[in-house]
Amino acid sequence: MSASPDTVAREVARRRTFAIISHPDAGKSTMTEALALHARMISEAGAIHGKAGRKSTVSDWMEMEKARGISVSSTALQFNYTISDPDTGDTEVAVINLVDTPGHADFSEDTYRVLTAVDAAVMLIDAAKGLEPQTLKLFQVCRHRGVPVITVVNKWDRPGRTPLELIDEISERIGLTPTPLYFPVGIAGDFRGVLDRRTGEYIRFTRTAGGATIAPEELLSADAAATREGDEWAAAVEESDLLSEMGQDHDEELFLAGETSPMIFASAALNFGVRQLLEALVELAPPPAGREGVDHHDREVTDPFSAVVFKVQAGMDSSHRDRLAYMRIVSGEFERGMVVTHAQTGKPFATKYAQAVFGRDRSTVDTAYPGDVVGLVNAMALAPGDTLYTDEAIEFPPIPSFAPEHFAVLRAESAGKYKQFRKAMDQLDSEGVVQVLRNEIRGDASPVLAAVGPMQFEVVTARMKSEFGVETSIQNLPYSLARRTDADSAADLGRQRGVEVFTRSDGVMLALVSDKWRLQYIEKEHPTLTLEPLVATA
Ligand code: G4P
Repeated sequence: MSASPDTVAREVARRRTFAIISHPDAGKSTMTEALALHARMISEAGAIHGKAGRKSTVSDWMEMEKARGISVSSTALQFNYTISDPDTGDTEVAVINLVDTPGHADFSEDTYRVLTAVDAAVMLIDAAKGLEPQTLKLFQVCRHRGVPVITVVNKWDRPGRTPLELIDEISERIGLTPTPLYFPVGIAGDFRGVLDRRTGEYIRFTRTAGGATIAPEELLSADAAATREGDEWAAAVEESDLLSEMGQDHDEELFLAGETSPMIFASAALNFGVRQLLEALVELAPPPAGREGVDHHDREVTDPFSAVVFKVQAGMDSSHRDRLAYMRIVSGEFERGMVVTHAQTGKPFATKYAQAVFGRDRSTVDTAYPGDVVGLVNAMALAPGDTLYTDEAIEFPPIPSFAPEHFAVLRAESAGKYKQFRKAMDQLDSEGVVQVLRNEIRGDASPVLAAVGPMQFEVVTARMKSEFGVETSIQNLPYSLARRTDADSAADLGRQRGVEVFTRSDGVMLALVSDKWRLQYIEKEHPTLTLEPLVATA
């Protein structure tokens, strides 16, 4: 018996599903730990991410799951966060889904797909470095998809830039207006606390040993803050007032429209500003929403079950040599064992093996609601972008393929393995590991792989060998840009130096071009040829 629409609506209202976008080293793992610490999932920070030296803690998770009723996965970390209203004493338990994104820039295509599965993003930037290339790229994807962004300036405990410099940089370089919810008291490197810009009060932080536990907070009135912090408080008030004069106060509508970004100053390492981030997520970030199908038919969150597959992962771990498809639930209640329909094939799909995954550990998911992420084991037919549903048919729009920047020819070392090679290529293509391009001149035996990052090629050769027993070699091609073209332009483009035309497996024709100067030259000399940018990420 599935849940009533009222139950689903209640579960949706208390859910927030988000991802953290950041440049490597800005502190994503540290912040993830700090968030979980605040949600009291773990008693000490330093236990979550399987980074070097911290791996030993992974096995502790299963015990913790049982004890606290949480589910953990390397793809989505789910935790409860209790907020109490200081006036009424009422408490509210929010369910937070933090969908993980790969750390390495080479797998940013996976990150782009994750961003199609979240309702908000936290843009984490290093106080000393400001906007960095990977943050910029990922931000563009958020903008493209209309994902609202909360900005966190991390590492405020270390020397860095001034708040106004960082705010200006974000406004000028990406056209997003930061609206700090809190203003730091004390310059970067001397982090004392924050001015709550909405109440005018001072939240003073206290360091704990090694930043391993929640940092105690003290709430002071403006007058008490002035006495306590003197010039530092006066400076914070003055700069905050300046922002208000410029209209940089939080505005929910502008935030949801992607024009402004609530900003928080934090130190993930000291656990400063982490509660403020959680509360901003719960108070300001949107709950899961329905989606429009390809036929413009809407699926509301309280409608029968539907979900989108946003990631497929296989063969990553020798003890689990299977394939996991991760779905984000869009509508209705998911109950393990329910039979759903795979929209792309029309075939039924049994969901007996629904799991949450963390490293080598897995746990069964019995029930889930919109916004939640569930891993389906051995879902061979599922590919990123696919839709699953029950009851009335629905198909959500496909996940866009992002502009590849690296291109290489893949060949099987031995001609005798051609059949396996073909099969493996089709499999890896459908999983979205790389994009596969073909043209008549090169033939089927040497497809061209297109990737956002070159490490995607290594994944292909490694999996070719381990899962399909095919030794392959990779030869890089001297192209750096891809543009969408059409059959009318293909012949003319093919005659240009530094250009080659291919058909991608989804039928889109792509012209690969050696560099941007060549592209500019061709656009100038042959203005009628079709050369359209793919989904812009940079
Ligand atoms: P990432 O996942 O975004 O790649 O970043 P990660 O959390 O691993 O953090 C990168 C480095 O920055 C780590 O230092 C981490 O301790 C440090 N860091 C993160 N947040 C803060 C912060 O708020 N303040 C300060 N001062 N440092 C922070 P590391 O030396 O690479 O590793 P570790 O030895 O500290 O583990």
